[in-house]
Amino acid sequence: MSTKSLRSLIVVGLVACVALAQDLGVPTSWRKFSNSRPLPERVSIAQNGINGILPQLNTGNAQFNGIGYWQSANVYSAMANQDYHAKTATNKANVINNLNKAFSLYSNYDQFGWVLESTSTLENMTDPPYIVDFWWATSALYAYRAYKDNNMLSHAVATWNRVNAFVITTSNAGSGSMSGKNFRLKGSCDGQTMAGAVFWRPTSDDMGVNSITTGLFITLSAYLAELTGDAKYKDAAILSATWIQNHNIANNLILDSVNAQTCNKSPASFTFTYNSGKYIEGLSVLSSITGDSKWTNLMLNIIATAVKASLWQGSDGIITEGASLNSNNDGVGFKAIFIRGILEAFSRSSNSNLRTLIHSYVDVQYNALLDLAASGNNYSSNWHGPAQGFTTWGQLAALDVLVAAVVAN
Ligand SMILES: *[C@@H]1O[C@H](CO)[C@@H](O)[C@H](O)[C@H]1NC(C)=O
Ligand SMILES: *[C@@H]1O[C@H](CO)[C@@H](O)[C@H](O)[C@H]1NC(C)=O
Repeated sequence: MSTKSLRSLIVVGLVACVALAQDLGVPTSWRKFSNSRPLPERVSIAQNGINGILPQLNTGNAQFNGIGYWQSANVYSAMANQDYHAKTATNKANVINNLNKAFSLYSNYDQFGWVLESTSTLENMTDPPYIVDFWWATSALYAYRAYKDNNMLSHAVATWNRVNAFVITTSNAGSGSMSGKNFRLKGSCDGQTMAGAVFWRPTSDDMGVNSITTGLFITLSAYLAELTGDAKYKDAAILSATWIQNHNIANNLILDSVNAQTCNKSPASFTFTYNSGKYIEGLSVLSSITGDSKWTNLMLNIIATAVKASLWQGSDGIITEGASLNSNNDGVGFKAIFIRGILEAFSRSSNSNLRTLIHSYVDVQYNALLDLAASGNNYSSNWHGPAQGFTTWGQLAALDVLVAAVVAN
């Protein structure tokens, strides 16, 4: 072997060591990180959880009593993913009929019409508009994946096209302006281009770009690239994934938002599970469609940190974020989106350490729900319990865990 090839072997070895540096070990302090329930039982526990929320469905507007518009979309995500993973079609009619219903009521799933001129108009709204359409479009994508219904794909594509107008392009970053926004944008922050960031509100004076909206765009783009083979979706996913990588990660967790006029960032204390979860999901699909280990390694670092972060769980591993006994709020279902993201990573990965870590973490949440927070098939949003009467938001938050436990065992 020549000195040169020996040297490159050493370099490759060092790179591999760096790539393996994240700790994917399972903390032994976690509460009950395995279970022995057989598959048919896990499928029925998840379906019973879904059945428990259905009495709240308002078929007139496809939404669920007790939760908001964007949260309602996430019920359909869990229903479609349950069928996809359990290889059933139990929820098919409900998912397809109601996603069609919402799309027919609100074109591009846009409940609010994108017409508001100023955030002051939003002042007195209890559920102010933001680019929530993405949650519905993502549900339509999962429904397409589960049922191959072409309407579902066309809803996802139409919404992608609409929201694409709120992505900062390379050209917008160059000119410092974009149509629909009445202020000057920073083309770069900290020396890195702002191209790829997505505005979270359509109003002309709202300056916030954020990780959840950008993460939803990455994920939807990556799935569309995978399902259609159209390179424009892959390019969009890479541009936006690069934006989060450059701007909105601190200590391996995803920060919330950036002001596109000033470059000011939200503080590290204002950090939520769903931002990391949605980015993890996007990176797992992006890893599949590009085969680029850069994205896989970034994903591993984020997962290894997020499942152990003291921001949202103690040493027992049970997620504490968004526990709300008496009223709904936006944050109550964030943890469901996190679990859904790591489930996608689990199901696409052949890394056995990663799969064991995610399996264990999912079982911690599953056992907590079943042992501590369940009253029959009703679940509290406080996963440490105690059990309480049915709430739509508690049920919503539990569904993705119940579905994940079907798969990650
Ligand atoms: C919001 O409500 C307050 C109090 O009722 C009122 O004074 C204000 O004008 C309202 N704002 C808008 C934009 O309607
Ligand atoms: C679950 O919630 C439903 C709906 O409120 C209620 O009818 C049922 O009795 C509850 N079941 C248990 C075991 O708490």
